[in-house]
Amino acid sequence: MKSYARLVCCVVALMVMLGQHLVLAEKDPEQLMLPTGTMTLLAPPDAEREPRLSPVVFPHSRHFAYSCKDCHHEWDGASPVQSCATAGCHENLWAAAPGTTPLGEKRIKSLAGAYHQVCRDCHRDELKAQKAAGMKRTYTGPIACEGCHPEPHAEPVNDIEIMSVPLGTLTIEAPEEVYAKRPAVEFPHGAHFDYACQLCHHEWYGESYMDGCMTEGCHDQFEPDPSTRNIKDPVNVYYYLAAYHNTCLPCHRELQQERKAFEKAGIINEEDLPAAGPVACIECH
Ligand code: HEC
Ligand code: HEC
Ligand code: HEC
Ligand code: HEC
Ligand code: HEC
Ligand code: HEC
Repeated sequence: MKSYARLVCCVVALMVMLGQHLVLAEKDPEQLMLPTGTMTLLAPPDAEREPRLSPVVFPHSRHFAYSCKDCHHEWDGASPVQSCATAGCHENLWAAAPGTTPLGEKRIKSLAGAYHQVCRDCHRDELKAQKAAGMKRTYTGPIACEGCHPEPHAEPVNDIEIMSVPLGTLTIEAPEEVYAKRPAVEFPHGAHFDYACQLCHHEWYGESYMDGCMTEGCHDQFEPDPSTRNIKDPVNVYYYLAAYHNTCLPCHRELQQERKAFEKAGIINEEDLPAAGPVACIECH
């Protein structure tokens, strides 16, 4: 029994080492501290009016199928994420009375207004879209007041774990077992946070732990299948090179085509063109 436990430990340690080998934190990229799990959203303590309704229990992790920026719309993917009620943002629980905002000043939505718009509208839109798509079992969040503000009031839940997410540039190296023909790839992780994390981390559902791409049982094959080198063939889905090239390249290619269409239409200013990633071999390698 003991030696079995030790063997498991060794295997785990080995997997951790392999994982670490692949992703070298280049200039020690900054880390984002991501709260996974469930938190409770409270009205700010200094609100002009005492909150009447229950605080809102919010399962953060169940929302990670969306881009972080759907909610954290001012986040640049590099700096820390600000809370919604930060000074200068939705700092007032309630809207200022009409006509009280000084002329020329941007009218910022109240905190309650912002939450209701972002949270409730998406839940409603999801329900509509799923019904329109003919889904028999729909999944969405609460739309009715009591769904978010139950009576009696909910006990605040703060079942949060912090996961550190590398923000800077990751160096993706070929695994040791492979004689690499090309230099390692410098991958700007944070430049990709306009997309949902699950677009790449497709087996992650908001837990506080995330496996690397080449974890055992995932894309852990160092060679293509003997039957074909074609990376589009499903037999090569566990071949690590297929996983990377099939994820990174199609998106970049599509974006480059979009850029070309813009350029054809006469739009040439860099700021007006959609951002796109590299497609040429030497741009990544
Ligand atoms: C459906 C909306 C939604 C999505 C999607 C979402 N968040 Fe959040 N997040 C929130 C809310 C609401 C809070 C609480 C903010 C507050 O307290 O003001 C929060 C809090 C946070 C905090 C803590 C901020 C603080 O005040 O310290 C971080 C960090 C964070 N989110 C990062 C992320 C990241 C990274 C993603 C993408 C994986 C993400 N969030 C996706 C709504 C969302
Ligand atoms: C972009 C769309 C979107 C936004 C924005 C959003 N939600 Fe959701 N929410 C969902 C979906 C979809 C589900 C169902 C997820 C599931 O079943 O795993 C959900 C689930 C929930 C649930 C769990 C319901 C249950 O049955 O347990 C709660 C509570 C919730 N959302 C609250 C919020 C709050 C509060 C906000 C705003 C801070 C918010 N949501 C913002 C899409 C959204
Ligand atoms: C999807 C979730 C959601 C739904 C549905 C929702 N709210 Fe809210 N509401 C919030 C969040 C989040 C806040 C801000 C945090 C807080 O105050 O607890 C809030 C704040 C409030 C506040 C200010 C705080 C207080 O308790 O006085 C009121 C009032 C309120 N909501 C009323 C309503 C009413 C009325 C409805 C139905 C028409 C409703 N809400 C539906 C999420 C929701
Ligand atoms: C969008 C970035 C990107 C582009 C463009 C790209 N690759 Fe890769 N490639 C990767 C990543 C990521 C890996 C996995 C890490 C590694 O092995 O270096 C990889 C791995 C490889 C490997 C296996 C490792 C090695 O060095 O032997 C080869 C061979 C390779 N790529 C060849 C190419 C060729 C040829 C092209 C052009 C047709 C190309 N790549 C274009 C990202 C890219
Ligand atoms: C465009 C693809 C892509 C997107 C989008 C993306 N990542 Fe990553 N992420 C990667 C790659 C590639 C690695 C390196 C993992 C490897 O090689 O095993 C990585 C590494 C990580 C790691 C370190 C894992 C480890 O093995 O130590 C964490 C944590 C992580 N990402 C979280 C996130 C979160 C959270 C989001 C959403 C805000 C996100 N990622 C969005 C591609 C992506
Ligand atoms: C869903 C689309 C998408 C996927 C998938 C994706 N990228 Fe990108 N990539 C982009 C976009 C958009 C940019 C431009 C970002 C910017 O300029 O802000 C970009 C930029 C880049 C850049 C250039 C950054 C610079 O400084 O010019 C590199 C390198 C890169 N991606 C590598 C990768 C690698 C490696 C993968 C796979 C692990 C990957 N990308 C997956 C969309 C994607």
